[in-house]
Amino acid sequence: MTVDNIIGKLLGDISEAINLHGDGGDLSWSGISKIATSLSASAAQLTLKAEFEVPFGRYLIHKDSDFNIQLDVFSENYIGAPHNHDTWGVLGVISGVLEVTDYQLTADSLVTLRKSILPSGSVSGFREFEDWHSTMTFALPQVASFHVYGAAFDMDNGKRFVEKSGIEEYARGTLHTIDETRSFLVARS
Ligand SMILES: [Fe+2]
Repeated sequence: MTVDNIIGKLLGDISEAINLHGDGGDLSWSGISKIATSLSASAAQLTLKAEFEVPFGRYLIHKDSDFNIQLDVFSENYIGAPHNHDTWGVLGVISGVLEVTDYQLTADSLVTLRKSILPSGSVSGFREFEDWHSTMTFALPQVASFHVYGAAFDMDNGKRFVEKSGIEEYARGTLHTIDETRSFLVARS
């Protein structure tokens, strides 16, 4: 399988899941589950072409009117702020180990619900109404993951939770383009 074959199969599976299980802008748990299954298989088949040579950042894999996919490449010992996406999402780990923390937003605080430790091929998902989470990485190897979000995801601006002041608006980092992104990936033999 080539990288394009693997991503092409994933795109078809995601479109099918949204057609069958879309719920307005949200997606039912059945749809999340279908995407998680396909994303797990895709993530396990891929790796970074040259580990440690891919600069950390956000890379756009795909975008259409129903969903989008980002490749996130993390730095070592990264600690991300809690944030949300105002839509459903599924993430799958391609390489390294990613920690994901899920939260429940109350009137004035974020309550930690769970922490998940995700090695390559592992997935995690959320629906629109409970979408607060954060990510963290540990030591090497470099962590890379696919993030699939509904169409409502604002790729440029978002909301994050800061301990002292609560929810604040922020500008997300640079989103690099599709062509340079796929050249970073290679199919595992
Ligand atoms: Fe996120």
